[in-house]
Amino acid sequence: MVKPDGVQRGLVGEIIGRFEKKGFTLRALKLFTPSRELAEEHYKDLSAKPFFKDLVDYITSGPVVAMVWEGNGVVASARKLIGATNPLNAEPGTIRGDLAIQTGRNVVHGSDSPENGERETGLWFGEGALVDWEPSLKPWL
Ligand code: TYD
Repeated sequence: MVKPDGVQRGLVGEIIGRFEKKGFTLRALKLFTPSRELAEEHYKDLSAKPFFKDLVDYITSGPVVAMVWEGNGVVASARKLIGATNPLNAEPGTIRGDLAIQTGRNVVHGSDSPENGERETGLWFGEGALVDWEPSLKPWL
């Protein structure tokens, strides 16, 4: 997901491009402003953290671009492409390492396990939202 700061800074194309160029397949995408209910459910494991309210305020402050990417090892690879939670610790070459300077404005979210990927896909898109298609380049990736 491109978070509200990423959308407002005009980084949507840059971020989508990194996943496309890596070779992953886009299966769903939408631009919308999440409700507090959705944001709180999405981040429910962090609900006891002192930054939880600020996090929910931030994620609901404007439109995000929610996406589902598929491909070999996508969850672990996406975490590497995204970089460390604190952008100042993220390696250059990662999205956060190249494009952000604050933990609370780290431009992008990625699921941290395949199970959470399934959970978050259901939460953000609901049933039947994935587009079933095969890129013609697939045999090369
Ligand atoms: P987390 O799931 O730990 O990180 P990641 O996004 O890398 O999976 O935290 C979720 C988001 O919460 C994180 O992207 C930014 C925010 N956050 C803070 O605002 N302050 C903090 O100290 C931490 C750890 C996270």
